[in-house]
Amino acid sequence: MQHFTSIENLTKEQVLSICKYIKDAKDGRLPTFNEKVRICNIFNEASTRTLLSFKVAEDNLNMTSLDFMSSSSSLTKGETLRDTVEVLKQYQITNFVIRDSKNEYYKDLVDIDGIHVINGGDGTNQHPTQAMLDIFSLLEHFDFDIENKKVLFIGDLINSRVFHSNVNILRLFNVEMYCVSPDEFYEDIEGITRVDNVQDIINEVDICCAYRIQHERHANTFDTNGYNQKYGLSLENIENTKSSFVFTHPGPVNWGVELNEDLKNHEKNLILRQVENGMYTRMAVLAIVNNLVEV
Ligand code: CP
Repeated sequence: MQHFTSIENLTKEQVLSICKYIKDAKDGRLPTFNEKVRICNIFNEASTRTLLSFKVAEDNLNMTSLDFMSSSSSLTKGETLRDTVEVLKQYQITNFVIRDSKNEYYKDLVDIDGIHVINGGDGTNQHPTQAMLDIFSLLEHFDFDIENKKVLFIGDLINSRVFHSNVNILRLFNVEMYCVSPDEFYEDIEGITRVDNVQDIINEVDICCAYRIQHERHANTFDTNGYNQKYGLSLENIENTKSSFVFTHPGPVNWGVELNEDLKNHEKNLILRQVENGMYTRMAVLAIVNNLVEV
């Protein structure tokens, strides 16, 4: 696997194999680099978790990690992402973690010889390492068996690259999928049943994946007054959920909107576990694309 750009073409066996390496990273068993390998993190959209967990992962693997300053780079003079990567390749940089607002930006890069592109999120399309850390966190919680579980998606679905990647990956595990969202954020996807409000379905599901309202991608201001009561989770509406029920959120959370503040430290909240697993997931993905381990 030379690049890691999308979940769309992965098989269930590949996903499980990547999970095995995430576990190896967590248990301190993942091989690291003995030679110098340079990696550049190009983040043309804001990030805390993805950027910093990649940096820690790179450090843990003994990679030489370089940061690209988008706002003071020649991208601001109109240089293309492809030309940028071609330039950086001349400095023996072979790995590129890239986040960009353009959907499928990576299609313009993957034919460049001798490099590895790892997608840190492209527009509203894909966030494959987030989907891997999410599936790993869920598998860990459910003793590595989520076959036929019921999953509810809530939030700004149409604008969420995490939602799109999570649907791709969860399909491989034959889960039953439901969603609740206002019309503005709804996306009609085959195999996902739309439900009117969270209260109608929450006690039947095993997993709820909540997604951030992405105000920065909206043309018009979205009023979040009353949103949490109908479309979000709160202590009140999860009190009769299944005993093994958990909820996830890729972060950052709009507290009081997708999730009420009373859920910050709730036992069914998987968010900080997701954050921790993000570091191990990124170590595994970097090891895989660089052939330290084989999928
Ligand atoms: N989940 C996620 O992508 O978070 P960041 O935007 O902080 O990287």
